[in-house]
Amino acid sequence: MNMARTVSIGCQDYETLRKNQYFYIDKTHFIREWWEAGDIVTLIARPRRFGKTLNISMVEQFFSVDYDGRGDLF
Ligand SMILES: Nc1ncnc2c1ncn2[C@@H]1O[C@H](COP(=O)(O)OP(=O)(O)OP(=O)(O)O)[C@@H](O)[C@H]1O
Ligand SMILES: [Mg+2]
Repeated sequence: MNMARTVSIGCQDYETLRKNQYFYIDKTHFIREWWEAGDIVTLIARPRRFGKTLNISMVEQFFSVDYDGRGDLF
């Protein structure tokens, strides 16, 4: 078993990153936290390269009908 994973620094698409099994710090819990907070407006204030776009890609895919049944991703 090869434990070494590719650390991608230029992948902003959640599905691509997961499908290719690149190194990923699991932030899927954010979906529940964010959903249960019931916020109308969410400001994501993080510095450059902190995963804002990747996180939004994850949320988008989680709620997209195109990703219905994709338990492999979540
Ligand atoms: N949870 C994570 N686990 C592993 N790698 C991650 C994670 N989040 C982001 N990355 C990596 O860090 C890089 C930067 O993430 P992303 O582009 O989402 O950040 P950003 O905050 O939108 O950056 P920018 O300020 O440039 O728009 C991505 O290319 C991705 O490969
Ligand atoms: Mg970005």
